[in-house]
Amino acid sequence: MRREILKRLREGAYISGENIAKNLGITRTAVWKYIRNLRKAGYQINSSPRLGYRLEQAPDLLNPEEIQSGLTTHVFGRSIQYHEEAASTQYEAKRLAESNAEEGTLVVAEAQSEGRGRRDRHWVSPPGMGIYLSLILRPDLEPFNIAQIPIVMGIGICESISRVTGLQPRIKWPNDVLLEGKKVSGILVEMSAEPERVHYIILGIGINVNTPASMFPDDLRSTATSIAEVAGHPVCRRTLVQRILPNIEALYDEFKTANFEAFRERWRRWDQTIHSRVKIADASGSFVGYALDIDKDGALIVKDQKDKIRRVLAGDVTLTSELAH
Ligand code: BTN
Repeated sequence: MRREILKRLREGAYISGENIAKNLGITRTAVWKYIRNLRKAGYQINSSPRLGYRLEQAPDLLNPEEIQSGLTTHVFGRSIQYHEEAASTQYEAKRLAESNAEEGTLVVAEAQSEGRGRRDRHWVSPPGMGIYLSLILRPDLEPFNIAQIPIVMGIGICESISRVTGLQPRIKWPNDVLLEGKKVSGILVEMSAEPERVHYIILGIGINVNTPASMFPDDLRSTATSIAEVAGHPVCRRTLVQRILPNIEALYDEFKTANFEAFRERWRRWDQTIHSRVKIADASGSFVGYALDIDKDGALIVKDQKDKIRRVLAGDVTLTSELAH
């Protein structure tokens, strides 16, 4: 009902309580209560005794009404589970996937108390500041190809940030999105699979949109930033989500019928890793070298200090210098 009322208010003109009530088959008192609750949630609604109600401004919330108004996707975000606070949208999405939620189901939270990054790191998720979302995907792909999905999705995040803000994000392999050299977004992919069949994957995306630098813990302040910190003004989270979802949906559809090779050039356009000195760390240790390229499978090709060419499939990259070799 709330969504129906918002839909009518979004048409832009004044609409009387009586009209809304008649249209929706509820009482005028019920309409008034919905309006009161919408105002409480941050919607600025003007009321005039003769003309009725008019929506002046919607808050920058990521609830289904806000995300879906004007969303141009076919599948992604057509079904949304919204939380004012979740431990982690990954957990919620996993729970939904286990109970057969359909592909494209989106879990969004305004805040996360246990936001998680890759390698079990914490993802800073203060209320109303960032985008914290998880998508359920059910690709008919082999587990081997799944590792390439976050690499491809990084392209969509960069393109969207760039379109909405005019800023120039860059990707640090495999899928950290940077602004001015600091991390602004990360992707976490978790999957449930058998050796040759994927049941589902949960694609988690975190973006520091309006997070002030002071909200990052001391140890992250030199490596993390937010879009607003770099842009110098707040950025609408809803606009960004509405741009990201169709972008990554198109990339995902294309990825299912092509291989990574088809995205290599596009990925390179945003990349900041190739031609840089890098330190690669994984569970077995670390080494330094020079990043030469990304190969047709999305692996990073690195020349180590003994001039040996190494193919890196997973790991943490630190850029130690951007100078060409
Ligand atoms: C990384 O770069 O380490 C990945 C960060 C992924 C964070 C997002 S926020 C939404 C989703 N829920 C989580 O707990 N994590 C992902």
